Amino acid sequence: MSDRSEPSSPPLAWLDIPKATLAALAAGGLLCCAGRAYPQESRKKIRLGVVGGGFGAGFWWHEHPNCVVTAVTDLYPARRKRLQERYRCDAVYDSLEIMLKEAKDIDAVAVFSGAPDHPKHAKMCFERGLHVVSAVPACMTLEEAAMLKQLKEKTGLRYMMAESSYYRQECIFARNLFQAGGFGELFYSETEYYHDGGDPDKTTSNIGSLVYNPDGTRSWRWGFPPMLYPTHCTGFLTGVTRERIVKVSCLGWQSQQPKLKNHPLRTENVYKNPFWNQAALMLTDQGHMSRCNVLWRCVAGGERAQWFGDKATFYMANGPVNPNILGTPGEKASPAPVPQYWKSDMLPEPMRHDSGHGGSAAFISAEFINALLEDREPAIDLYESLAMTVPGIVAHESSFKDGEQLPVPQFDPHKA
Ligand SMILES: NC(=O)c1ccc[n+]([C@@H]2O[C@H](COP(=O)([O-])OP(=O)(O)OC[C@H]3O[C@@H](n4cnc5c(N)ncnc54)[C@H](O)[C@@H]3O)[C@@H](O)[C@H]2O)c1
Repeated sequence: MSDRSEPSSPPLAWLDIPKATLAALAAGGLLCCAGRAYPQESRKKIRLGVVGGGFGAGFWWHEHPNCVVTAVTDLYPARRKRLQERYRCDAVYDSLEIMLKEAKDIDAVAVFSGAPDHPKHAKMCFERGLHVVSAVPACMTLEEAAMLKQLKEKTGLRYMMAESSYYRQECIFARNLFQAGGFGELFYSETEYYHDGGDPDKTTSNIGSLVYNPDGTRSWRWGFPPMLYPTHCTGFLTGVTRERIVKVSCLGWQSQQPKLKNHPLRTENVYKNPFWNQAALMLTDQGHMSRCNVLWRCVAGGERAQWFGDKATFYMANGPVNPNILGTPGEKASPAPVPQYWKSDMLPEPMRHDSGHGGSAAFISAEFINALLEDREPAIDLYESLAMTVPGIVAHESSFKDGEQLPVPQFDPHKA
């Protein structure tokens, strides 16, 4: 387990209360962190550049009292306009490369380009002396992970990965419950990210249109390997316990159906990825088990988890049918109404609204800006980001070896 402490800890006073009342406490919102919305005493304004007007136009930097978006860029004019309007920023650039050359008034960059570009774009920003918040995943190869670690440590700049699972309301609840000892030993978790690509023959007319860029060319999502996008799952494990995944075994599904087997999404992708879906079993440095699924072709959707401890089990809601459930020994499992943390003093006041992806977007925006104001590492710093990203890289490799269990390299700082 990482010995680096969590930036903010919940109150522990109620730890000794009988387990029988745990669910009631949870329901009453008592598992909420006492918040420090932002350092109001700070006179600093963080000047942010934003790259990528797709998902990157869905954040709330501009609502933070100590942040101003001073530059935006995308390769497509319509997306540049979207960014300009969203963040009320008239300094618009045709590319990140031009923005980094010309924009003088930026302290940090939000990198929301396509996944394969994240390490390259983070490197460009680091080399210009700018802090980085990057969309997931942090990288796609072990070499890129090493490069990011080396550059971060050389420059001392801050890095955060914008992992939405970490700040889903249920994950905040699970993290608080874990830190307060409510799970006991959390020996097993099941995490999943299901994003159905729709009918592969109708990729232009349904959800599968994501595999095309606005100009009709194939996007980075064309045939993207599921396990190279693991962080929505692993974020539910390391984002709760801060354990490290040390071994992984993974299987991939290619399908024998002629339509799927011969589909260009499978046979013509730049990643040489033959898998539609992947399922992994992971072992942590605490000897705990985690089952992690990433499926692109399935009748399901969403990011969720269930956590099993010897004092409590927490099943995250599964669609509209099954609510969040908390079970404790000798108790009938009961609904666990997870607090709407985004209404609390964990966020600056203008940001206290539902913000997308399980309420996570405002938290990601606030945490990165607060970390820079307070001159500290963000909660999902580079080491946490790599601990969530790298197990998927190794899992993908394992899928080509019929699920051989492989060791996961670690990228944490060396202990003295
Ligand atoms: N829940 C989540 O955390 C979540 C959800 C959706 C997307 N994402 C991630 O966010 C990222 C963006 O997703 P998306 O759906 O918007 O992808 P996208 O491919 O639609 O958009 C990426 C944008 O980056 C722009 N871009 C690329 N290179 C650039 C450059 N050099 N200069 C300026 N602009 C450049 C492109 O023009 C494009 O508009 C992806 O990495 C994805 O994995 C995360």
